[in-house]
Amino acid sequence: LENGVGRTPQMGWNSWNHFTCNINEQMIKETADALVSTGLAKLGYQYINLDDCWAESSRDSKGNLASKSSKFPSGIKALADYIHAKGLKLGIYSDAGFYTCSKQMPGSLGYEDQDAKTIASWEVDYLKYDNCYNDGSSPKDRYNRMGKALLNSGRTIFFSLCEWGEADPATWARGVGNSWRTTGDIQDNWDSMTSCADENDKWAGYAAPGGWNDPDMLEVGNGGMTTEEYRSHFSIWALAKAPLLIGCDIRSMSDETKEILSNYEVIAVNQDKLGVQGKKVKWGGSDEVWAGPLSGGRVAVILWNRGSSQTSVTANWSDIGLDSSAVVDARDLWEHSTKSSVQGKITATLDAHACKMFVLTPK
Ligand code: GLA
Repeated sequence: LENGVGRTPQMGWNSWNHFTCNINEQMIKETADALVSTGLAKLGYQYINLDDCWAESSRDSKGNLASKSSKFPSGIKALADYIHAKGLKLGIYSDAGFYTCSKQMPGSLGYEDQDAKTIASWEVDYLKYDNCYNDGSSPKDRYNRMGKALLNSGRTIFFSLCEWGEADPATWARGVGNSWRTTGDIQDNWDSMTSCADENDKWAGYAAPGGWNDPDMLEVGNGGMTTEEYRSHFSIWALAKAPLLIGCDIRSMSDETKEILSNYEVIAVNQDKLGVQGKKVKWGGSDEVWAGPLSGGRVAVILWNRGSSQTSVTANWSDIGLDSSAVVDARDLWEHSTKSSVQGKITATLDAHACKMFVLTPK
């Protein structure tokens, strides 16, 4: 959507993957503090997004959504002020149905204009909009209604569609919002993460500045995968121009988690201004190559061992869109080192589920 935001994939934090419904004002403020003090904010993570369960179970006497007073005693406007004062942005969550997916708060179906005005009046910057408990009508219509309401709300609000499957959102959502889910909910394990990556890959051609495919939020740091698996997760999401929405408790993350989420070279691939989604270009065995173009004629490439034993993975220039005679400098984004004058192919021996990620710059 051409609404001025989402020129590169959104970066930030969301409460759902780690906290589900257990959110409150204090921990959200502490998370905003941590995003700044850890240096993550400076690297581009700017949205602090409340997911489900932030509101009272019924609307107030005027039909407005009301924040849950037991969890957010100061209200959402005060929270937005706190977050804005830190140079960050606030996101919130609703649903194109009668209830949200938790069934613990009302959805916005039939209240689109009212709810868009409410969140704009709180100075919210982002809306994730889910699809549970709807009336069975076309998602396209229901999401369009909220998209229009946001555009008429008087505030620029990033619109994140959380609908997949039912109506292949990649094919129509660009005119409605800034990102759209392409998969079911991610879980904190290898099988779920890799299948989100694969499903999302099918829609690669639809991503571009203004609107992005969303294979769901990051699980890095939640404990269900190994460090190598989390590195692969982060690398593939970055290459696929997926939203980089942190889903762990950043107030207490380990050094390893912080190192992954803070890899500015991997982030730079995600935020590259060309905005072309990298794709799986070679597969079949356990060895895979994913690649995509970057600005300045550069190419980003991931060599990935999807199997459970050590293997060697090779990308030939013909696999990744480089001329066979090209000579490149190969920057290893995890080692932070450069190999100069590489010709014809790049190879690595990789442990189970590990990857290497390079940016190749033709000479
Ligand atoms: C759906 C979404 C999740 C999360 C939950 C909240 O399952 O896909 O990302 O927002 O709802 O209930």
